[in-house]
Parts: sequence; C-alpha cells; structure tokens
Amino acid sequence: MARPKIALIGAGQIGGTLAHLAAMKELGDVVLFDIAQGTPEGKALDIAESGPSEGFDASLKGTQDYADIAGADVCIVTAGVPRKPGMSRDDLLGINLKVMKSVGEGIRDNCPDAFVICITNPLDAMVWALQQFSGLPANKVCGMAGVLDSARFRHFLAEEFNVSMKDVTAFVLGGHGDTMVPSVRYSTVAGIPLPDLIDMGWTTQDKMDAIVQRTRDGGAEIVGLLKTGSAFYAPATSAIEMAEAFLKDQKRVLPCAAYCDGEFGLDGMYVGVPTVIGAGGVEKIVNIKLNKEEQEMFDASIKAVQGLVTACKAIDSSLT
Ligand code: APR
Repeated sequence: MARPKIALIGAGQIGGTLAHLAAMKELGDVVLFDIAQGTPEGKALDIAESGPSEGFDASLKGTQDYADIAGADVCIVTAGVPRKPGMSRDDLLGINLKVMKSVGEGIRDNCPDAFVICITNPLDAMVWALQQFSGLPANKVCGMAGVLDSARFRHFLAEEFNVSMKDVTAFVLGGHGDTMVPSVRYSTVAGIPLPDLIDMGWTTQDKMDAIVQRTRDGGAEIVGLLKTGSAFYAPATSAIEMAEAFLKDQKRVLPCAAYCDGEFGLDGMYVGVPTVIGAGGVEKIVNIKLNKEEQEMFDASIKAVQGLVTACKAIDSSLT
C-alpha cells in the first residue's frame, strides 16, 4: 500500500516542525507548500537529509505549486502571519482571512478528500472560513487548539502535583482565545477530578485559579518570551496527534474546533469541543453537560467567536 500523503500549507515555524514530526513518525510522505520561494524546498531537503541518521522512510518535497498537494490524505494549514508581542490572535484576522481564501481554493481544487486541520489564527474564525472557501464537508475540516490548550493545562497540573503528565487528563472548551474555558471539573489525575484533589489538600483553589489563567494566557506567555513569533513545537505536536488519529483510525477523544450544528445548543458554528477523531474525520462531538458557571464562560467564549465571524463576513461578502 502506498504511503499516505500529508500536505502542509505554510512552511514556517509550525510547518517545518510538522514536517519533521510527520517524517520521524513515518506518518506518510510530506509536501510542504509555501508562497515564500525556497523556504519549503530548503526545509524539505534539510529534513530529508536527517532521514539516514534517524532511519525514517518518508519522502519530502517543497513547492509553490498547489498541483503538488493533489490527492493528499491530510492537509494541515499554518499559512498566514503569527502574533508579535502585544498583539492578540484577533489582530491577525484581516490578513489571515485572505490567506484562507487562497488556501481553501487550493485544497478544493487539489485534495477535496483530505482531512483538513487548520492552525492559523484567530483559529475558530479561520477554520470556519476555510471550510466555506474549500467547500469540504464540515466533518473533514477542523481546527487545532483544544489539544494544545489541554496539553498546556496538563503540563501545568503535572508540575503542580509532581506527577507524571501521562496520568493527568484535562480539556479546554470554547474559542482559542482569552475566553477559552479550561474545564476543572472534567480534568483529573488518574480519574480523580481536580475539585476532589483540592479537597484532599493536594493544591488550593487559588493555585488552581492561577493555573487556569496561565493556561488561557499560554500562547501569550510564549510570544512574550520569543518576541519574534509564536509557539511552534507544541502546536505542531498537537496537530500531528490529530492527524495520526485520522490516519490510523484511532477514534481518539480529543478537543478540537469542530462544526457544531445542534450540539452544545449551537446553530452551525466552529468552536472548541470534545470530539472523536477517526478515519471519518470528526466522527462525533461529545456533547457533555455544562454546569451553570461553565455554561456562562462557554457562552462568553461563543460570543467572542461570533464577533470574529461577523468581522470576517464584513470583509468578505461571499461568506455566509
Ligand atoms: N499561502 C501559503 N503560505 C503562506 C501564505 C499563503 N497565502 N501567506 C503566508 N504564508 C506562509 C509564510 O510564507 C510563512 O512561511 O505561512 C508561513 C507562516 O509561518 P510563520 O510566519 O513561521 O508562522 P507560524 O509560527 O508557523 O504560525 C502560523 O499558526 O499558530 C498560528 O498564529 C499562528 O497564524 C499563525 C500560524
């Protein structure tokens, strides 16, 4: 059987890391597409030259021609501009919306059967626009945010409790922005919910509140440190986890920006929710019950995402 084909649209910091991880994990052959001449070609060749030492079998190609992504099984989109210090993800909307149009059309014309994972920010609005521009079914287009936000939450929790992060589960709901909702009630250490761990004296409510806030600010913390761009190792790793779930039909339960039509009381919009990812793409949305406080935070997050969607519609009248 031929190796799967993975198209990476955008060969910048995240795109290059995605290519390296996909090759090292032998997920398939990789095509890196970017408008910047030489960047995808250079990164593809550099990574290919690490193959003999690492011992992976994968071909890598860099290109400026959409025809080269033809027939891709997975397409991960990072094309666009990242944040600089002081910018919010929302500040990127105008520029990145135009990028989503050209990328969506490239996907539509060349790999309409792909499972598409969008990473470009502001995430929830960009994945919504990308789905419309590409015309692919909504269950085959999703956004990577929840896996990353949850990984950040899990990392901070594992440090706080001094336990293996393998035993920490957590998830984050809502939009990928300041209003995201890290779920304390549904996050656990080996099945023990965080509120119980507070009762057991493992941590305090104040420390938990600080970890929740640090999770919300996780992207800005990295931008503030790097100064010239935003996070790329953990975002790439998170998207690869989703791509692997699709390619290997793992039926992983992962939070991602998925199209909700009825679920969570939403009327056709993309937002971060728990999903099942397998060979069918986003096969299911896990429609958990929220308590009053969670619902209020989720509603505020929905409102923020709706504001971005409205702003997109004002820029491009073809979006509905
Ligand atoms: N088509 C293809 N590639 C494009 C286009 C386009 N229309 N416009 C820009 N690019 C490419 C750039 O040439 C660059 O190589 O997208 C790449 C983006 O890479 P970086 O600037 O390194 O950004 P990165 O850190 O990878 O983040 C990409 O993901 O997390 C989000 O906020 C982040 O929106 C940003 C995206």
